[in-house]
Amino acid sequence: MKNIKLGLIGCGRISTKHFEAIEKIENAEIIACCDIIKQKAEEKANQFNIKEIYENYKEMLDNVKMDAVIIATPSGIHPDIGIDVAKKKINVITEKPMATSLDKADKLIYACDENKVNLFVVKQNRLNPPIRLLKNAIDKGRFGRIYSGSIIVHWTRPQAYYDMADWRGTWEFDGGAFLNQASHYFDLLYWLIGPVESVMAITNTIAHTIEVEDQGVGIIKFRNGALGSVDVSMNTYPKNLEGSITIIGEKGTVKVGGIAVNKIEVWEFKDYNDDDKYVFEADTNPLDVYGFGHLGYLKNVIDVLNGKAKASTDGRSGRKSLEIILAMYRSAKTGKIVNLPL
Ligand SMILES: NC(=O)c1ccc[n+]([C@@H]2O[C@H](COP(=O)([O-])OP(=O)(O)OC[C@H]3O[C@@H](n4cnc5c(N)ncnc54)[C@H](O)[C@@H]3O)[C@@H](O)[C@H]2O)c1
Repeated sequence: MKNIKLGLIGCGRISTKHFEAIEKIENAEIIACCDIIKQKAEEKANQFNIKEIYENYKEMLDNVKMDAVIIATPSGIHPDIGIDVAKKKINVITEKPMATSLDKADKLIYACDENKVNLFVVKQNRLNPPIRLLKNAIDKGRFGRIYSGSIIVHWTRPQAYYDMADWRGTWEFDGGAFLNQASHYFDLLYWLIGPVESVMAITNTIAHTIEVEDQGVGIIKFRNGALGSVDVSMNTYPKNLEGSITIIGEKGTVKVGGIAVNKIEVWEFKDYNDDDKYVFEADTNPLDVYGFGHLGYLKNVIDVLNGKAKASTDGRSGRKSLEIILAMYRSAKTGKIVNLPL
């Protein structure tokens, strides 16, 4: 029986991943979808057999009985929509980043607390098989002390990508290469290594006509003493080259790379563990940088709603990478080291 009924707001590019994933989950279905451009909602409704379509999400919330709503609109409006969803006592699933400011992220978290609904932030890369193995290795203490963690996101985004919609490349609705494209990677650094003490960054906009940065480098000091580095560019010629994380510890070194943390490139530990047998089976080969993770992520959401699991990424966990990135933006603006919490 399909006991979890969902709605979806924002029928653009990423919504396809949600529609496809929910189709594959036995006990869940999307029963209504909404887009301010009616044709987009109609297209998805026809393709995925969705019963009801809306142009105004408030009407959808008033008229349709749903357990949860997926928000896949431009990032800057996730919180306002999420707060309206929460006020209807409906669980909120928001695409990443959950907001473009901490103030709005906090308002969304409090609205979900107040209305006693779950807040899920989509961070599907945590569920990539190579990343799960890496997380297990950390949880089992296989690295010993962690010395450093670094992320590289060397992708390419042509000007046409930013010109596709007015919200792209703006501070208010999108954020730059750190907040949009690299936000999963910042999330992994925090999730794998732990709380951040301070950051520094330099960013610039070198190859595109946009408000936000198209490249940036940053340094992190973690509270446990580890150091982190961040190297992000949307200007890689001629195509996406690498999306990786490297962790160096006292007794181990791991690099998960490929174009989107989908391939184990280095797996070295002093001590053997049975997990080592799975390392070369763990590669996935996604067709795009979004990967396959939406299915796993949404399965977890449905399990949480059925009382069978703990959330893979809740609102407070989703907020961490936002805070680190906003601290980097502050550093890039002031030229100073920025201490956390902000
Ligand atoms: N998890 C991931 O890896 C991943 C990947 C890509 C995008 N995203 C995120 O998904 C979100 C959407 O990205 P996209 O690439 O699909 O963008 P998009 O521009 O293709 O789609 C956004 C859609 O929202 C609609 N919309 C705007 N305001 C609305 C409103 N008030 N009510 C209803 N619909 C509204 C637009 O008409 C558009 O169809 C962004 O926050 C982005 O960061 C996440």
